[in-house]
Amino acid sequence: MPALPTVRVAVLEDSHAIFEAHQDSVQHLCAGSYTPAQLGTWFKGRTHEVHHPFIQAGQIFIAEQKGRVLGFCGFIPGEVTLLFVRPEAAGSGLGSRLFNLAVERAQANHEGPVVVVATANSKRFYEKHGFTTMEESFFVRGASDMHFAVFRMQHERHAQPSSPLR
Ligand SMILES: CC(C)(COP(=O)(O)OP(=O)(O)OC[C@H]1O[C@@H](n2cnc3c(N)ncnc32)[C@H](O)[C@@H]1OP(=O)(O)O)[C@@H](O)C(=O)NCCC(=O)NCCS
Repeated sequence: MPALPTVRVAVLEDSHAIFEAHQDSVQHLCAGSYTPAQLGTWFKGRTHEVHHPFIQAGQIFIAEQKGRVLGFCGFIPGEVTLLFVRPEAAGSGLGSRLFNLAVERAQANHEGPVVVVATANSKRFYEKHGFTTMEESFFVRGASDMHFAVFRMQHERHAQPSSPLR
């Protein structure tokens, strides 16, 4: 059986490899849920430096095998901010492994639910992890002000009833 990828805290020297894996993941795994024009705009104006503040804060973990970054996750208190796996590693359980780690870190020293802003293509993945949609939203990217549909989700254990009991 092949060895599991190694998971470790990212350092600044990893930022090029992280950014490359990020683009690989989006271009291939988000393609069914966003248009070619949206995929072409996703990284517009962004470089590997976009991850620097979170790497410096110790808030990004990478999974690597034979020196290749296969995926990464990010967190801040109360939120999983990043979760991206390369197409070649998708479906192997790596996304779940990274997600569980990020949730654990996001939960540390945080009262209340952990949230995630899910891409349309990853919504089912988070539902499998017990998360439910609180709000449909979008992010804006590029000079054309393109809107990207996303879903703000939290663990159903913490979900608020829609009509509170009186
Ligand atoms: C979402 C993502 C991280 C999942 O990673 P992964 O390594 O494929 O996930 P796993 O192998 O751990 O899958 C766990 C379960 O979720 C399911 N699953 C994974 N991705 C899914 C998807 N896009 N839609 C529906 N189910 C999915 C798997 O089939 C598996 O189900 P099972 O437990 O019944 O076998 C990966 O597809 C990805 O990087 N997507 C592109 C980037 C992205 O949109 N990230 C989210 C940013 S918010």
